[in-house]
Amino acid sequence: MGIWVNHVLSNNKKSWDKVAHHFNGVDALPSYGPFAQTEDELHLLDDLQQKIVLDIGYGSGHSLKYMRDIKGVSELWGVDLSTEQKRAAEKTLMGYNPKLYNAAMEEDIGLPKTYFDCVYSIYALGWTTDLTSTLQLIYSYLKPGGTFVFSWDHPLYAHIKSEAGILTLDGNYQNEGTQSFERFKGEDAPMVIHTRKLSTFINELIYAGFVIERVVESEVGERFDGEDAPITDRYYSLNKARKFPSTLIIKARK
Ligand SMILES: C[S@@+](CC[C@H](N)C(=O)[O-])C[C@H]1O[C@@H](n2cnc3c(N)ncnc32)[C@H](O)[C@@H]1O
Repeated sequence: MGIWVNHVLSNNKKSWDKVAHHFNGVDALPSYGPFAQTEDELHLLDDLQQKIVLDIGYGSGHSLKYMRDIKGVSELWGVDLSTEQKRAAEKTLMGYNPKLYNAAMEEDIGLPKTYFDCVYSIYALGWTTDLTSTLQLIYSYLKPGGTFVFSWDHPLYAHIKSEAGILTLDGNYQNEGTQSFERFKGEDAPMVIHTRKLSTFINELIYAGFVIERVVESEVGERFDGEDAPITDRYYSLNKARKFPSTLIIKARK
């Protein structure tokens, strides 16, 4: 890895350690993302009874807990950059005997190849500094026929700004690159994140060898049926999600 990437990863790690406590049980299965349909509505996961899964960016471990409690998975594995998230996940998964690694998803840390029935990632994949090698690694971890399911902010969502409930295009969707911000979750936690177009996610999956089975641009989940959507200019809001998909979800197969 280059010097710049190491610098980004080590700074992002420090910041994730700081903000980890904001993410306890947030963005975890069965949820795929803010206001989006859940797994109960979308049915993207195969039958995973007694199967082996790997969570990319496991956060507080609640998606892995869902995989064991609800899907009956036999082996729980995960990779996450943040040491604090690992601590949180160990608590969530006490007694579940998970194999949790504290590492960057874009790094080959020697996880077994051709071993997993399902690799998945809930709101974490977009943090990678290298989408090409991350997807190649994920492909290598899967058994033939295994699935990769991920959710992430819809790539255009970050460019849709709300002002008094009116949505406009902010910035430049054409410019892929990095975006730096000094504060995250109201804390002094500088982060660098890559911006990528929808086609980049799709093309990189194809390039890694995946067959894409389903692309979901989220709609508002059933749990919000009939709920009032007050006008607010928050980044995630029911009002915005009713007009524009908050979340991109893709299911692909090896
Ligand atoms: C929104 S949280 C994910 C929530 C989690 N998937 C769940 O189910 O509860 C994003 C996670 O990505 C992790 N992360 C950020 N950059 C990463 C990287 N390069 N490699 C691995 N994990 C990363 C963060 O530490 C954080 O735990």
